Amino acid sequence: NNIFSGLFVGQNLVVLKEVDSTNTFLKNSLSNSKPLPEGTVIMAEDQYAGRGQRENTWHAEPGKNLTFSILLNPTFLSAQQQFDLTRAVSMGVYDALYPLLRDSLKIKWPNDVYYQDKKLGGMLIENILQGAQIKHAVVGIGININQENFHPGAVNATSLKKILQKDYDLQYILAEICNRIEAYYLQLKAGKLQFVRDLYISRLYRLNERHWYKSNEKKFEGIIKNVQPGGLLMVEHDGQEYTYNLKEIEFLDD
Ligand code: BTN
Repeated sequence: NNIFSGLFVGQNLVVLKEVDSTNTFLKNSLSNSKPLPEGTVIMAEDQYAGRGQRENTWHAEPGKNLTFSILLNPTFLSAQQQFDLTRAVSMGVYDALYPLLRDSLKIKWPNDVYYQDKKLGGMLIENILQGAQIKHAVVGIGININQENFHPGAVNATSLKKILQKDYDLQYILAEICNRIEAYYLQLKAGKLQFVRDLYISRLYRLNERHWYKSNEKKFEGIIKNVQPGGLLMVEHDGQEYTYNLKEIEFLDD
């Protein structure tokens, strides 16, 4: 009874006692003479130099949270379609956690997993391109599961344990995430990009709500209207629609 019920994601599971970063480890493995099979998952019990979005570091108490990376070879996606992989992975994580957290679960653009106004996890997808196509994608995922205390800087962090007052089995949640990601990945492979795009939008944090944002040192109240195919965020404010990339806009608390 293998809980990894997919065809390839998680079928080759490597659990490391400690590693700097599972993303770095997996990226380095790509230069081996015999590359790891697609769907390989590298999971770390202790990741001591985890990396996050915007050059941030990613901390997790050893043994308590999920920190892992998946190797995918989405050669059918062009460089312009990178954000569709982000969507598929986000949706996979979302579906795996949905039975536990229901409708308070959201995807905060571009790819944070949110419960109400708190961050439960995130992902760092590093694509290796070959010309105009993606050759490899190193999909790094960090989800806070059984950790209860976060360092004072991480005011916005939460975990399954903090929300539901219970401990969860890391391998079981890992398997659920892998199975769901595989399903969405196969949708992309079958060319159903629009299906994945529509689903992503329907689960977006703060969609069509008025909230505060900051860009270029300027604060404004705006409404998230959509995410462009390529991944830019569309926000309406001051009577117009503007598009932003990750570095250009910051979400503020109301
Ligand atoms: C973020 O929200 O900033 C992204 C966090 C991504 C963290 C994961 S943990 C496993 C993988 N290895 C890393 O070094 N980072 C990702």
